[in-house]
Amino acid sequence: MTQRFILLALVLMCGLAVGASLRAQQQPPAGRAPAAPPTPPDLKTLAADVERLKTLVPSNSHIMMDVQWHWTNLWFAAQAKNWPLATYQFNEARGHMQWLIKKSPMIRSSGPDREQVDIEGIFGGIDTGSLADVKAAIDAKDVAKFAQTYRTMLENCYSCHKAVGRPYIRPMIPKTQAQSMMNVDPTADWPK
Ligand code: HEC
Repeated sequence: MTQRFILLALVLMCGLAVGASLRAQQQPPAGRAPAAPPTPPDLKTLAADVERLKTLVPSNSHIMMDVQWHWTNLWFAAQAKNWPLATYQFNEARGHMQWLIKKSPMIRSSGPDREQVDIEGIFGGIDTGSLADVKAAIDAKDVAKFAQTYRTMLENCYSCHKAVGRPYIRPMIPKTQAQSMMNVDPTADWPK
């Protein structure tokens, strides 16, 4: 979302610059002074704008809050056997984990050594392992298998948190639904 916003902003800025120079090249209407010569796009401002936009990208903690949100909703969707909703929540959770990796493939550990941790490598193993197993259980519509794979994935969530020196971020099976206004019942008939 934010990356799309940055791209959009860049495209808009380029569009405005091109539009301005095209307008400047048009003949002035009769009786009016000729327009000022076209100003080329200011690359210095563009670089500063890009730097500013970078500071507006959400923090890693914010991205992880989204992961937690979707991962919690996933549990309740699967308990209700609402498999399309479970698939949606799974994809969102995975998408946000991928976003974290794209944004910060290396993260400085909070541990005493403050070393850089390759979370891209850690996620690579999880993505094709325990995360893929959860997806397989959802696809098989298997509640028991889902619970087992969900739990294993939580252990993997935690292994990444430990690797980045944050062992205090310990996940568990959620007790309450994150989104109380979302009906997880697959047989619900309202709103129509
Ligand atoms: C590849 C590494 C990695 C994986 C996998 C991972 N996390 Fe995280 N998570 C992090 C990092 C790094 C932070 C700390 C972010 C920070 O300090 O800015 C974090 C922080 C969090 C937080 C705390 C957010 C806050 O600020 O309150 C929660 C909650 C969380 N993760 C949930 C999860 C869940 C649930 C999963 C698994 C479904 C998961 N994480 C998988 C790397 C990971």
